[in-house]
Amino acid sequence: MRKPVIAGNWKMYKLIADSVATVLALKPLVANANHCEVVVAPVFTAIKTVTDRLEGSNIHVAGQDCSTESKHGAHTGEVAADMLRDAGASHVIVGHSERRHLYHESDSFVNRKAQAGLAAGLTVIMCVGETLEQREGGMAERVVRGQLEGGLRDLTASDLDRIIIAYEPVWAIGTGRTATPEQAQEMHAFVRRVFAGRFSQEAASRLRILYGGSVKPDNIAGLMKQADVDGALVGGASLDAETFARIVHYDR
Ligand code: 13P
Repeated sequence: MRKPVIAGNWKMYKLIADSVATVLALKPLVANANHCEVVVAPVFTAIKTVTDRLEGSNIHVAGQDCSTESKHGAHTGEVAADMLRDAGASHVIVGHSERRHLYHESDSFVNRKAQAGLAAGLTVIMCVGETLEQREGGMAERVVRGQLEGGLRDLTASDLDRIIIAYEPVWAIGTGRTATPEQAQEMHAFVRRVFAGRFSQEAASRLRILYGGSVKPDNIAGLMKQADVDGALVGGASLDAETFARIVHYDR
């Protein structure tokens, strides 16, 4: 039985005061959400304050990225995975399409970040997804397979329980254009098959695969009904505590 994950990626939004206000508003709204894991990903500078204020709650905190480097050293501007852990985070997002496209992160770069996150004891949410052009060119599966094979390289069976895949079709991010539940299911089933081929059927059956891209309170239930959709990575709709809580409670 896979426990669903509903994660909010706040991207580069919210100062510390707003981050704290949002999680304090969210806390009581999701306190009884035992059916899923709830995660929020604030900006780096807010993580420590947010985790302090969330102590004892069921809300987990994620970094939105981490360095490829585990060893502390001269890497100006980078944040090592164990520094995220030190600040209270339990999860880290790697390979978000905004990092891949705006900052030219390659699959091997994403792989190194995933390895760094795992080595620090974090749960890694690795994002994959094709662009509109790639989908229309019939390349979606090939692109996602390449991202998975590159991103998961050299991971071992003992790492797999701390890997979550987020399928985020680039054409659905921030566009209001969600993949249909059927489109999401089709790609999630494909991700699970690739994972089974790379590792084992057993590991694949435990893998949690989240959908991301314009998830809202009114489309989450349809997505969650799909056999291979195990949760969501939510951008814009996670910024407001009440809206995000409605997504967390998709089962009502
Ligand atoms: P939106 O929900 O705003 O489309 O963003 C999705 C996303 O990129 C989550 O990581």
